[in-house]
Amino acid sequence: MRNMKYFFKLFDLLPRAGPGNYESTRWAFEAIPGLPNQPFILDLGCGPGEQTIDLAKISKGKIIALDRHQPFLDTLMNSVRRAGLADDITPKNMLMEEMDFAAETFDLIWSEGALYFMGLQNGVRRCHQLLKPGGCLAFTDLTAYSTDLPKPVADMFFSEMADFPQLPAKLAMVEAEGFTILTHFTLPKTAWLDNFYVPMEIELPRLEEKYQDNEAAMEVYQSMRDEIALYRDYSDYIGYEFIVGQKK
Ligand SMILES: C[S@@+](CC[C@H](N)C(=O)[O-])C[C@H]1O[C@@H](n2cnc3c(N)ncnc32)[C@H](O)[C@@H]1O
Repeated sequence: MRNMKYFFKLFDLLPRAGPGNYESTRWAFEAIPGLPNQPFILDLGCGPGEQTIDLAKISKGKIIALDRHQPFLDTLMNSVRRAGLADDITPKNMLMEEMDFAAETFDLIWSEGALYFMGLQNGVRRCHQLLKPGGCLAFTDLTAYSTDLPKPVADMFFSEMADFPQLPAKLAMVEAEGFTILTHFTLPKTAWLDNFYVPMEIELPRLEEKYQDNEAAMEVYQSMRDEIALYRDYSDYIGYEFIVGQKK
C-alpha cells in the first residue's frame, strides 16, 4: 500500500491525476444525444480538473466538480478563474459514497478514472439513480485487453482495481444496470504518456533528491517509476476504456 502523504506530494504537482486527453473527452461528449443547451453535469472524482475545464468549454453546461482531495479542488479552481469559468464550475469536497443529491438531478455524469473508487458496479448503479430519464453516464475505467495478462501487469495494475477488468464483462454490467451503450473506445497511449506519465517523470527527480533519505517516500517514487516502465513495456495489454451509456 502506497504511503499517501508522499504520493500526494507528487500528484499535487501534476496537471492530471490519471490518463486522459482533450480529444477523448470531446469524442465521448459528441456521442451524447439530446442534451439541453445548458446541461447540468456532475464530474465525479474530478481531481485537478483538466477534463472539467475541457468539459465546461465543450458542453457549455453547469458542472459540479466533486472530489475528496481539497488540494485538487484548489488547483481546479485556480484554472477555473484563469479560464473565466467561475459561474459554470462549482467545486464540492465530498466522498462519492456520501453523495446526497436528489434522484434524477443530472443530465450527464462524467467520471474519468474515478468511478471504481466506489466499486464500479455500485458506482454505475448510483449514477443511474442520479441521472434524469434519458440522461447519460460517461466514464473511463482501467481495462485488460487480454485474458492472459502477464503477472507483473496483473500485480501492478489490477491488484487494487479488480472490478470487471475485461471489456465484454464491463459493458454487459453497464447494460444490466439500465444503460444503453452509446459508444466505447480505448484512450490513445499518448493520453497515458504525454498527459500523465511524462509530467510525472519531470517532477520525480526533484522529489527523489528532496526525500533521498526517506524510505517511505522513496518507496512511493520507485513504485511510480516501476508502473511507468511496466506501462511502456505492456501498453498493448491494458488501457483506459471510455464508455458512454444512456439511461434506459
Ligand atoms: C485517478 S484520479 C482521476 C482524476 C481526474 N478525473 C483525472 O482524470 O485527472 C481519481 C480521483 O478520484 C478521487 N477520489 C478517490 N476516491 C474518492 C472518493 N471516495 N470520493 C470522492 N473522490 C474520490 C481522487 O481524489 C482523485 O482525484
